[in-house]
Amino acid sequence: MPSIFVRGGNELRGRVEISGAKNAVLPILAAALMAPSGVTQLESVPRLMDVLTMVEVLEHLGVEAEWREGVLELNAERLTASEAPFHLVSKMRASVLIMGPLLGRLGKVRVSLPGGCAIGARPLDLHLKGFSLLGADIVLGHGFIEATARQLTGNTIYLDFPSVGATENIMMAACFAQGVTTIQNAAEEPEIVDLACFINSMSGRVEGAGTDTIVVHGRRSLHAQSYRVIPDRIEAGTYMVAAAITGGELILENVIPEHVISLTAKLREAGVTVHSLLDGMHVKGNGTIEPVDIKTLPYPGFPTDMQPQMMALLTLARGTSMVTETVFENRFMHVPELRRMGAGIRTDGRSAVVSGVRALSGAPVTASDLRAGAALILAGLVAEGVTEVCGVSHIERGYVGIVEKLKSLGADIWLE
Ligand code: EPZ
Repeated sequence: MPSIFVRGGNELRGRVEISGAKNAVLPILAAALMAPSGVTQLESVPRLMDVLTMVEVLEHLGVEAEWREGVLELNAERLTASEAPFHLVSKMRASVLIMGPLLGRLGKVRVSLPGGCAIGARPLDLHLKGFSLLGADIVLGHGFIEATARQLTGNTIYLDFPSVGATENIMMAACFAQGVTTIQNAAEEPEIVDLACFINSMSGRVEGAGTDTIVVHGRRSLHAQSYRVIPDRIEAGTYMVAAAITGGELILENVIPEHVISLTAKLREAGVTVHSLLDGMHVKGNGTIEPVDIKTLPYPGFPTDMQPQMMALLTLARGTSMVTETVFENRFMHVPELRRMGAGIRTDGRSAVVSGVRALSGAPVTASDLRAGAALILAGLVAEGVTEVCGVSHIERGYVGIVEKLKSLGADIWLE
């Protein structure tokens, strides 16, 4: 398996194009299953392992998929299966997002229970609660979940936690329900809004996306559409931190500034210069980092997917920072790896105390998940000597051409 090597010390300078959002395109790919006729054309789809896996899941279900000059075309007229097999779901838990569309369109769906992953157990109880309240029968057994429903009926569904996936799955199933469905305490992420916009472009009727109450009007005839996916706010945030940690200066193109408001605020508190541009961001590191406290929360709070990257930055702050992870129960897997590089971090449950050090030192480290991997690369950009990051497959799931993009900005980075 290849590793990513980084020799620290170069300030990053230049322009970087942000790709389409992984966490927007994955539910939108699932929603393409809802179109019984026509060809869905998706633009700005990032060519990531997770996207290719989701396309493989759709093809397994009978969807015809084709990449044509950067546009991903999908024809879901003839579905030939209603089951996602273990080997695909185990590769990517977002495969469970096919449940809502298939339950609605076919009245049945069977998916392998996704394993947990490095960052937590990641149960599906809220997804299943929503399907049950819409009238589905749920059977668990032999490592599979089976949901069936002769007819889905609109209902009011309160989510105990504003789960992104549960909000998306229930929204899609509710499009096929008789009557109106209200999702209370819904997730408000930009990716939820993008999914709702895509469904509405198909002639669906989803209201309130982006707030904590979403109303879905069911049983509208949906048809395939062309759609451009929003930019990836987490990829953007990762490059914003890259500018900050190296003391460099970057212009990020294809960013929606209001999607990175919490990160912008925290970087400014840390002494980083950040300006919003019309469809981008200008970020300039100032050589020193002030300590700041971070608490991850559902959107619009500070995103959990930026917690590892921000922690990498704070390991070099002039003081002590507190990082609290409230979304996932085990998202500090990057901490022991950063410690190997000389970081001063002490964890206690969901909190980590980060005592800034003068410098990090390059070391062989291992990425346990996508964002931890990104954090280790960021630390390597500024560490003394060479850092070898193993677990590149995790990183390639979420970052289009990260080695090439960083190299083009002046990083001394290579794959070997
Ligand atoms: C989405 O995962 C993202 N993935 C994650 O990004 C992101 O970290 C997460 O939302 C939170 O923002 C995609 O969009 C593909 P959740 P999801 O359901 O939907 C608990 C990345 O790096 N929960 O909002 O799985 C769960 O255990 C990935 O790009 C239940 O208890 O996240 C977790 O503690 C990592 N029961 C919390 O909610 C449920 O039924 C948030 O999970 C569902 C979730």
